[in-house]
Amino acid sequence: MRLIETVAELQAEADRERAAGRRIALIPTMGALHEGHLSLIDEGRSRADRVFLSIFVNPTQFNQASDLDQYPRTFEDDLDQCKRRVVDVVFAPSAEEMYGPGSQTFVDVSELSQPLCGGNRPGHFRGVTTIVAKLLLAAKPHVAVFGEKDAQQLAVIRRMVADLGFDVEVVGAPIVRESDGIAMSSRNVNLHPEARRQATVLVAALDAAESMIAAGERDHAEILRRVNDEISKAPLATIDYAELRDPDTLAPSPGRLSGPALLALAVVFDAPAGESAAGVRLIDNRMLLAGTARGGGRKAEIHDP
Ligand code: PAF
Repeated sequence: MRLIETVAELQAEADRERAAGRRIALIPTMGALHEGHLSLIDEGRSRADRVFLSIFVNPTQFNQASDLDQYPRTFEDDLDQCKRRVVDVVFAPSAEEMYGPGSQTFVDVSELSQPLCGGNRPGHFRGVTTIVAKLLLAAKPHVAVFGEKDAQQLAVIRRMVADLGFDVEVVGAPIVRESDGIAMSSRNVNLHPEARRQATVLVAALDAAESMIAAGERDHAEILRRVNDEISKAPLATIDYAELRDPDTLAPSPGRLSGPALLALAVVFDAPAGESAAGVRLIDNRMLLAGTARGGGRKAEIHDP
């Protein structure tokens, strides 16, 4: 496994692989790797001859300095995991390498970046699309793999790639879950143990909505009422958003669902009163297939360690 820290070296490596006729898969990450990331590596491996994985905690996508500070960093462990999973290249640049002196160019997907996570995290997606564009230009991959847990991020990146004509296939990989259903996330380690226990309401809410669809319910408001009720069972939870949206355009789903609808959740889990741990914002989602005869949704893979 090669560790590369500069864009020029990564581009040279990509050029060599391409000249030899080999396909490259890029897995962009911010490190703190878990089974969810490892599934992205496997997805990339199945579609390419070489897997490049980037580890870069991108400062421009954090709109709060405290969130950037608290983001878990486990670089040595990440490298070990990459070696064990036979990643070919780890790209781990410095902030100065990615945003050199005088840097002032950003990529902004104007509309898809506004709702959901864009609402409470202004500038977040501008940071994401800017760094992903830079990573695509540096790694020159044939395919880039992103997790479906960040459904809005995936939609925004697909739009950017189409709009700017990047010659890369964007692949979404299914959400990987812990044995109790919580979606794997680098942020889970920051949850207070009680908040971690209560966070299972997220998957309970998704399951409840999916069961309603399977039973024939198509009323948008009714489904969201049930979702809110499920999440409210966790006293430490504060809902940021719980919404039904078109999976591609992210436009609000109609009052009566008639096609695929993305149920997207963002919930902050605080620590119990008197405890010092900070609140942690978790996101999760499920595609509800309201257009099909039996309804239901597309479940994510469960990882049972
Ligand atoms: O999903 C992430 O980990 C990040 O948003 C990404 C795509 C690596 C960009 O920094």
